Amino acid sequence: MIEDRFGRVHDYLRLSLTDNCNLRCFYCMPEERYAFAPHARLMQVGEIDHLARVFVSQGVRKIRLTGGEPLVRKDAPAIIRSLAELPVELACTTNGIRLDEMIADIEAAGFASINVSLDTLQPGKFLKITRRDLFHRVRNNIGLLLDRGIRTKINVVVMKGLNDDEITDFIALTRESPVEVRFIEFMPFSGNRWTSNQVFTYREILEEVNTKYETSPMPAGPNETARRFSIPGHQGHFSVISTMTAPFCAGCNRIRLTADGKLKNCLFSKTETDLLTALRRGEDVLPLILENVRLKERALGGQMNGDFKNLDARSIENRSMITIGG
Ligand code: GTP
Ligand code: 5AD
Ligand code: SF4
Repeated sequence: MIEDRFGRVHDYLRLSLTDNCNLRCFYCMPEERYAFAPHARLMQVGEIDHLARVFVSQGVRKIRLTGGEPLVRKDAPAIIRSLAELPVELACTTNGIRLDEMIADIEAAGFASINVSLDTLQPGKFLKITRRDLFHRVRNNIGLLLDRGIRTKINVVVMKGLNDDEITDFIALTRESPVEVRFIEFMPFSGNRWTSNQVFTYREILEEVNTKYETSPMPAGPNETARRFSIPGHQGHFSVISTMTAPFCAGCNRIRLTADGKLKNCLFSKTETDLLTALRRGEDVLPLILENVRLKERALGGQMNGDFKNLDARSIENRSMITIGG
């Protein structure tokens, strides 16, 4: 069991496959030119399999593939095949671009759910946010997942003045489709030009939905990041991920492995443990994992005791989001 000093059991591993991506979202990548890690520095298929088995032997029961964009990695099908053999719930967070090419691999691996990042329903705005003209491909691929009966969530990072005017348009998608739309409070990471006045808060999101819809809270699991709501007559539902204004660290069960094999015990943790180098040296990684998680902080969500308004993003010591994977 992977337990920290506060009794939190960590049974959910977020595994980043690459820091590379086929989009260039401004809020995810550093402003300056970014050099993707060379392939040899990334965990290889056998190394991922080895490390995943160590985590599973310690009670991990859910593995989410993240990136950058996990599906740009050429050997993603081989990685997915090997992880599909483990007794875990397999999930993936993707920008959705390559889902059409990879749908057979995804169906064969029996993914429990796929979370697709999509911040706008307007093609022009998509180009502005991602710097790539690929809106229709992503939108069609969300349709493909739903047609195949794959549980699908859409992640929308809400940024004030950019896409807060589209909240009710996203809600409209939940009327006819069993999709979960998740509105995410914008979070600060190294180089992403976050400012507190761009955060469209949990409260503001709910107020905006309530201008047009009647909403009721749904029961939440103990480790949920998202607070869920239903709308009468809608097949799907919506939720809010309120890291900045209402952090949910008390129920955290997540650990993260970056694509270069570093263990991070929190999205905002500064300390990392280099499991890949240890593995390559033939060392036992288990004591390193247990010690890293034991030292996890009680709460870093919000990072400033709920007072995110006074946070200076430049003071944050962390990786950029593209190298963490969310
Ligand atoms: P499910 O497993 O489907 O609940 O998804 P998830 O919310 O764990 O993962 P996803 O990759 O879809 O992330 C959605 C948003 O939640 C992103 O903005 C993540 O950065 C954020 N998120 C995921 N896990 C954590 C966490 O442990 N802490 C915080 N603060 N945010 C998280
Ligand atoms: N704040 C909140 N969510 C973010 N994501 C990427 N950057 C940020 C940020 N700064 C989201 C992506 C993806 C998930 C892994 O994290 O949109 O859906
Ligand atoms: Fe790529 Fe996702 Fe970051 Fe956009 S948010 S640049 S899709 S990793």
